[in-house]
Amino acid sequence: MNQTYINELKNHIGEEVTLKGWLYNARSSGKLVFLQLRDGTGIVQCVVFKGNSEEVFEKAKALGQESSLIVHGSVKADERSPIGVEVDVKDVEVLQNATDYPITPKEHGTEFLMDNRHLWIRSKKQNAVLKVRHTVVKATRDFLDNNGFILADTPIFTPAACEGTTTLFEVDYFEDDKAYLTQSGQLYNEATAASLGRSYCFGPVFRAEKSKTRRHLTEFWMVEPEMAYAHLDDVMNLGEGLLNFIVDKVLNDRQEELKVLERDVSRLEAIKAPFPRVHYDDAVKLLQEGFQKGELENNFEWGGDFGAPDETYISKQYDAPVFVHHFPAVIKAFYFERDKDRPELVLGADLLAPEGYGEIIGGGERATDLEFLEKQIEEHNLPKESFEWYLDLRRFGSVPHAGFGMGVERCTAWMCGIEHVRETIPFPRMLYRLKP
Ligand code: 4AD
Ligand code: MG
Repeated sequence: MNQTYINELKNHIGEEVTLKGWLYNARSSGKLVFLQLRDGTGIVQCVVFKGNSEEVFEKAKALGQESSLIVHGSVKADERSPIGVEVDVKDVEVLQNATDYPITPKEHGTEFLMDNRHLWIRSKKQNAVLKVRHTVVKATRDFLDNNGFILADTPIFTPAACEGTTTLFEVDYFEDDKAYLTQSGQLYNEATAASLGRSYCFGPVFRAEKSKTRRHLTEFWMVEPEMAYAHLDDVMNLGEGLLNFIVDKVLNDRQEELKVLERDVSRLEAIKAPFPRVHYDDAVKLLQEGFQKGELENNFEWGGDFGAPDETYISKQYDAPVFVHHFPAVIKAFYFERDKDRPELVLGADLLAPEGYGEIIGGGERATDLEFLEKQIEEHNLPKESFEWYLDLRRFGSVPHAGFGMGVERCTAWMCGIEHVRETIPFPRMLYRLKP
């Protein structure tokens, strides 16, 4: 008999089905065994009556958590079931009776769960997070594809830094050569955008971040669109459109998962473009006022980079995602275009998510002038020979162009309403975690 998936059972009421999965949980009472079976698409209660078959009943009673099972039975409508159905079991085939599964329904500490991440991802909440992540990724791809962007993958081994030399992972690259794991595909995107007009890359990036915060991973996924003949406003417009689309898709396609995660969906339903756009100068004023009112612990000085409490405070003032733009050049990467009237500022914009999720998009307009960039590369102590190809983009048909990067994990954490980005990627890599 063919397999029926649990999320399709409501279309098979009254029919005989075969379910293939794992035992999520079980309890028995006298003449009945209740098996909670999961198959990746959902969980369904399968009821075994002693009266039907003593043999099947005894087999079911002896099963340990996460045993692999094939269940044959008939589908019954059931109002008390969260999925509207349960299954009357006729027979159970046991592929493996698992014993002593380490993750029991009782509470476990985070370190223990992280050590057992390969098993933890089977639990209801983690399963829901991974599905939301899938929808964030799919919505992102759909949005960019529908808006004329062409996917052009960029390399992971690179000869030089993109986002500063302090967070580079160095690897041996055959004899005598060093390579770095990419921090961002942006520089290569600038080349593909000059070929394709609008391009994007989507892949893992690496940062040797020594910070142990709930927002930092050492390996994370970033989507980076890049547009030729584009300016700072285009970056904010595109980022706004993308996020609106993602939020709609998640609300639409992941209702069940958001329920499992106990997400307050009203917070997501309230997300509506346009998002406020705040000049860095004004953001600084807000923070200084916040300090005077005693709502912030530290006074913020113009020229600094926002810390997590600053970002949270800014977005709280608007109760919406907020773009902050025109940052001081000293806190940004070498490649930014400058403001013509105030060259100490860059044409960059970051999107700060609400509810304390912080910066989820960072981007802006790229410098177009060859001499300016040569000077920047020198001042940032970057090896010029590794950037010659990049400088060619300013030698042959230089145009205004702009783009951004969005971190998949931070976006997913926000959608799910979960505290830490480590739960938004199947196998997180962090300062103190390289396993499993
Ligand atoms: O602001 P960032 O560093 O921007 C860039 O890398 C640009 N080159 C992108 C571009 O313009 N094409 O990173 C972009 C986003 C951040 O807003 C954040 O969402 C995420 O990447 N991010 C991280 N996510 C998890 N862990 C980390 N350590 C992250 N660092 C950045
Ligand atoms: Mg940034």
